[in-house]
Amino acid sequence: MQPSAELTAHSSWLDAALARFAADNADLVDRTRTLLDSLIAEPQSHARLLNTLSLLEHMGSHKIMATQHSAAIDQPTLRHVAEEAHHAYFMKRQAEKVAQRALEYVADDLLAPSSARMYFQRLESATVRALAEQRSARAAYLYMSMIVEFRALWFYGLYDHALKSARHALSLKRVLGEEQAHLGDMAMRLEAGGELDDARAAEVLAAERRLFSRMLDALERAIN
Ligand SMILES: [Fe+2]
Ligand SMILES: [Fe+2]
Repeated sequence: MQPSAELTAHSSWLDAALARFAADNADLVDRTRTLLDSLIAEPQSHARLLNTLSLLEHMGSHKIMATQHSAAIDQPTLRHVAEEAHHAYFMKRQAEKVAQRALEYVADDLLAPSSARMYFQRLESATVRALAEQRSARAAYLYMSMIVEFRALWFYGLYDHALKSARHALSLKRVLGEEQAHLGDMAMRLEAGGELDDARAAEVLAAERRLFSRMLDALERAIN
């Protein structure tokens, strides 16, 4: 482990990047809050949101497993896949608690499922394109994970706040803590490998913002 100079440099990159992410997404906050408030107020829809989040977490953990299977797979990556799989389980458990029945990853039990699947697939293509000259499965994994964690932290933060305002018993504290640790970990590993490039990160973040905004449109349509 390098002494703190590198860590300090990294965390100032991350602090600035988080501030930039918040500013770039400020116009999506009200829409997202309105959507979350109306979903939380309607248990059957809320259960479908939770089941959709479970699907996204499951796809995330599957994506890590499908791309990171070399003999050199390390402890942080194994921990990451385990925690994402746990998030999928946690969201499913909460979804079924709210719905008071078993839920599957089928259209009737999900919200805007094709847009959720498209979000992941297109984000992966955008990441691979942005990293074209690098051709490193590891760098692609770290970038894609880092970008997803920016959104996860932003979205779960708003969601947790909306749950508290509605005095809902569900708390996302543990999930938020883990997503935050993943984000820091991805940024640190990219930085340590000399692969953290501001312009490249900005390019993928801009693509992610368009994809998320499209998913938001679809979610709004699904409840109206
Ligand atoms: Fe997660
Ligand atoms: Fe995560």
